[in-house]
Amino acid sequence: MGKKLLIHNDKVQGIHTLEVYRAHGGYASVEKALKTMTPDQVTDEVKKSGLRGRGGAGFPTGLKWSFLAKPEGVPRYLVCNADESEPGTFKDRYLMEKIPHALVEGMITSSYALGANQSYIYIRGEYFYVARILEQAIREAYAAGWLGKNILGTNYSLELSVQVGGGAYICGEETALLESLEGKRGNPRIKPPFPAVAGLWGCPTVVNNVETIAAVCPIVNMGGEEYAKIGIGKSTGTKLISASGHINKPGVYEIELGVPVEEFIYSEEYCGGIRNGKKLKAVVAGGSSVPILPTELILKTAKGEPRLMTYESLSDGGFQTGTMLGSGGFIVMDEDTSIVKNLFTFSRFYRHESCGQCSPCREGTAWMEKILHKFLNGTANESDVDLLWDVQGKIEGKTICPLGEAAAWPVAAAIRHFKQEFIDIAKSKKFNDVSHYNRLNKIAK
Ligand SMILES: Cc1cc2nc3c(=O)[nH]c(=O)nc-3n(C[C@H](O)[C@H](O)[C@H](O)COP(=O)(O)O)c2cc1C
Repeated sequence: MGKKLLIHNDKVQGIHTLEVYRAHGGYASVEKALKTMTPDQVTDEVKKSGLRGRGGAGFPTGLKWSFLAKPEGVPRYLVCNADESEPGTFKDRYLMEKIPHALVEGMITSSYALGANQSYIYIRGEYFYVARILEQAIREAYAAGWLGKNILGTNYSLELSVQVGGGAYICGEETALLESLEGKRGNPRIKPPFPAVAGLWGCPTVVNNVETIAAVCPIVNMGGEEYAKIGIGKSTGTKLISASGHINKPGVYEIELGVPVEEFIYSEEYCGGIRNGKKLKAVVAGGSSVPILPTELILKTAKGEPRLMTYESLSDGGFQTGTMLGSGGFIVMDEDTSIVKNLFTFSRFYRHESCGQCSPCREGTAWMEKILHKFLNGTANESDVDLLWDVQGKIEGKTICPLGEAAAWPVAAAIRHFKQEFIDIAKSKKFNDVSHYNRLNKIAK
């Protein structure tokens, strides 16, 4: 049984309340940090822990915090990214819904480290009910003196509020999120300047994922060095994985980084194997935007080593034979899955969510959806595979934010590893399956 640090208490009755959360050791990191540590010491522990951002890119959190500009007399902000709109990812929702105080506690400890006196949790519009749960937790924390003026009798004060977004995937991109939080349309900003220098209202800002912020509590409690002993190499600590698709036990799992992918899919502790005794065909390991890998490459690297659930092992081989841990949205596909049909669903999502600011993304996502639709309605030619490859290649690296890459990578990987499937459909002209497309349209209306 792997170590659990974030959702170990998720089944405890009433853990969403302050009273029960406190009775299970909650808010210990706030007490320790505010009473016995300086803000820089908290940041040092986070650095020592090796924690990497859990929002997708895996950037070292302590390093990011140390970049925060600290000009005299200018406020600093911590903004929690709870937008979680990447298809296949639902671990932040689970954490916030079940143990909302874990995030509130993490926000206080992290805000103290950063010298922020006003912090925000920006949550996607569709999670309005989770926002209510968080607001209730925040009210309880204020009433008990964990938030507000002079917390625990110290001279540290913090105001914390929840901002509900309008339900746009692009607002998960940190600068679009900041625009939205300022009340504007959520279009990504050109960087530099980075938020650490000019973020919310032009002030130094750190944007971190929900899970990243929650992980700061065990790090402060146990110490950065102890935390770094969990995991393998530069993939330290535990990670929440949203497991979905054709598995026996879909759900949110907390793993110690380093679990072999094969064990994660087949063991009873985690996914419990493929549904109905089917064979595994492919896995999208880190949310819809990361490259899909066929069975032989997700279970073993190109060097024949067992693939592990770590940042390094999953990306071994680059995009030719590897993928990314990303946000931990682990989507499993069995032998009956149509890669082309699945890709169409993803591409449709990215076309819909492109903010339209950059032409390669706005036009490219629309073209990719259109070409893939031809495969679905039986009008695609073999040359459309090359056209699709060409279009995706014209998006990557040519946009302000990485939504362009998020849309292009799944297309490139599907063609790289499953090209024959596209060709077979184009040749046979028999794959006349628009029911899927019609159903998606109906849902959208
Ligand atoms: C289109 C797009 C959507 C994103 N959505 C999210 C999201 O929902 N949650 C998240 O934490 N990060 C998301 N990110 C990454 C954020 O920009 C940012 O890197 C992250 O919040 C940093 O937090 P971390 O360092 O704790 O990982 C998204 C990025 C892009 C390009």
